[in-house]
Amino acid sequence: MDIRIFNNTEEIAQAASEIILNKVKSSPDAILGLATGASPVATYKKIIAAYNAGEVSFKNVKTFNLDEYCSIPASDRNSYYTFMHENLFNHIDIEEENVHVPNGNPENAEEYCASYDEAIKNAGGIDIQVLGIGRNGHIGFNEPSDAFTAGTYKVKLTDSTIEANKIYFDREEEVPREAITMGVESIINAKEIILIAEGTAKAQAIHDMIKGEISPACPASILQKHDNVHIFIDKAAASLI
Ligand code: PGA
Repeated sequence: MDIRIFNNTEEIAQAASEIILNKVKSSPDAILGLATGASPVATYKKIIAAYNAGEVSFKNVKTFNLDEYCSIPASDRNSYYTFMHENLFNHIDIEEENVHVPNGNPENAEEYCASYDEAIKNAGGIDIQVLGIGRNGHIGFNEPSDAFTAGTYKVKLTDSTIEANKIYFDREEEVPREAITMGVESIINAKEIILIAEGTAKAQAIHDMIKGEISPACPASILQKHDNVHIFIDKAAASLI
């Protein structure tokens, strides 16, 4: 694991965006796996700045997002579809047809999830996957459990995840209880992974991911097995390692 401890958000974003931008410059048809949440926002800002400076084009890039809430439409202000457009896609020259955010409300979830994994495979697999980590060690919406998950599937969110997501919604009843998420196996199939985390609330999860045993009780611990993973964290998130 390439573990780097930075002083602030800006430094993390600089390092993470550099890897992504270098990939897109050298492979203009790169496949990016993207994440929502607070952790990657500064990185996306750096990517937009590089695009605005004329350094890079996303015309031929394809993206696949990790997850999407069920029970709200893509057009909802809290959907991950909306989040990605507001924080990245609307500000770069990516083609909408190359953007993939899971459909949170598929008619047949099983068939839909299989088709999402198939689309990733047909595109050639993910070159770089961006990840955050939950306070409970989740990646995507793969919550702690008895077994590592495989491909994309529909998941029930845990109370701690619902609690963490509450800040984005006006009323607690509005927070979705289920999501469509890439499975652990879909995530670790990526050729390169960048996980970003900041703050003391993530310190235990970071500790368990790096120093704990590889166990589905901390889904992120699977990253110990991956041979090209960058862990970019601040001092607070690194405080227990
Ligand atoms: P965050 O979420 O980036 O908003 O902290 C990360 C996650 O829960 O995976």
